[in-house]
Amino acid sequence: MNKEPALAQLAEEIRACRRCPLGSVRTHAVPGEGDPNAEIMFVGEGPGYHEDRQGRPFVGNSGAYLESLLADIHLTREQVYICNVIKCRPPHNRDPLPQEIAACKPYLERQIEIVDPLLIVTLGRFSMAYFLPNSPGISRIHGKPTEVDGRIILPLFHPAAALRNPKWDRATRQDFAQIPSLLAKARATRAQNAPAPDDFEQLSLF
Ligand code: URA
Repeated sequence: MNKEPALAQLAEEIRACRRCPLGSVRTHAVPGEGDPNAEIMFVGEGPGYHEDRQGRPFVGNSGAYLESLLADIHLTREQVYICNVIKCRPPHNRDPLPQEIAACKPYLERQIEIVDPLLIVTLGRFSMAYFLPNSPGISRIHGKPTEVDGRIILPLFHPAAALRNPKWDRATRQDFAQIPSLLAKARATRAQNAPAPDDFEQLSLF
């Protein structure tokens, strides 16, 4: 699949979206951005003030914090894919409503299908609940990787929460430090499960 045009077309659809009332109160929709072939996808909650102004995810204080975490593991934001559960800012940064999350779901599903990341890092409780709906709560499971549909889900505190609380900042930095080894394991697992060259030959015979 040519991922770049597929993501660009999806971003156009998101910018024109009116599936829920947030479509008429946003300044800009925030589809997401990054490397279309990224191995890691970061999924936040929803755009805040700065993201709504610029149409880009994680560009305010939370974004600067995320970039500093990435730098700790020698990555830049251009090397990963960054998006949100909901693509438009709720008024006054209120929590996203269940119907808004449901309306946006097909967009996140398609982003995951196109980028096909090995590891999804969830930022905050709404993103965690999207992927791990019956989990006991972020304080209990942050930093604990779980496999879902052949991908690793790593729940983290939201950057805004980590910025407010030194204890959560320390925990988030520790959780983040696992990413390189988790990725190495995920690469090995995917390579093992990839069809052998023989399988391709057989497929082409029929
Ligand atoms: N918080 C989020 O959850 N997402 C953003 O894009 C910015 C802040």
